[in-house]
Amino acid sequence: MIPDPIETFSALYAQASAAGPEADAMVLATVDPDGRPSARYVLLKGVDARGFVFYTNLGSRKASALAAHPYASLCFYWSPIGRQVRVEGSVERVSGEEADAYFATRPRASQIGAWASAQSTPLESRETLVQRVAEARERFEGGDVPRPPFWSGYRVVPSAIEFWTSDPARLHVRERFAREGGGRGEWRRELLFP
Ligand SMILES: Cc1cc2nc3c(=O)[nH]c(=O)nc-3n(C[C@H](O)[C@H](O)[C@H](O)COP(=O)(O)O)c2cc1C
Repeated sequence: MIPDPIETFSALYAQASAAGPEADAMVLATVDPDGRPSARYVLLKGVDARGFVFYTNLGSRKASALAAHPYASLCFYWSPIGRQVRVEGSVERVSGEEADAYFATRPRASQIGAWASAQSTPLESRETLVQRVAEARERFEGGDVPRPPFWSGYRVVPSAIEFWTSDPARLHVRERFAREGGGRGEWRRELLFP
């Protein structure tokens, strides 16, 4: 019986979180509309049998990339436990309800920041950003900050997950799990040369 790689991921993620800071930081690689790759860090905000969730601005460069090519690759490196995990899959938007529920848990400053930032578009000056933050603060003073319509989450539905384990003798272990059927098929497992 093959272990479920998402369960394996969750167990390793718990180990990595206990072993050091920022285990939730992951590189998100996308393909821009012109077919070129781009990568940046985002934070993992949820993982379950459906996939890996992160949140962002829907007007950002990564959002344009995902609109053109709804596929992504994620990469974690957890130095304290000597592990790398690579994830590849199709990407879908989370539901409005799911995004609302997560947005409501964010610190107020982050909620205000989401309203103030036209992420990835040119900014004339730092003062413009500071002013937009002040405007958003004033707009929502005395009440809850709703989720901006231009801010939500994406779920990477994995079709492949690879675990790399560091070996002191350089005989690193690479274990790759892959499945067909758009994230719904049976997982297959193979070892790869390091
Ligand atoms: C550790 C770390 C975590 C980050 N987490 C997020 C995140 O969860 N969501 C996000 O939109 N940007 C996050 N950022 C900022 C992104 O790396 C990036 O600068 C921003 O999203 C704009 O990317 P884009 O122009 O490719 O869309 C994070 C940056 C770092 C260094």
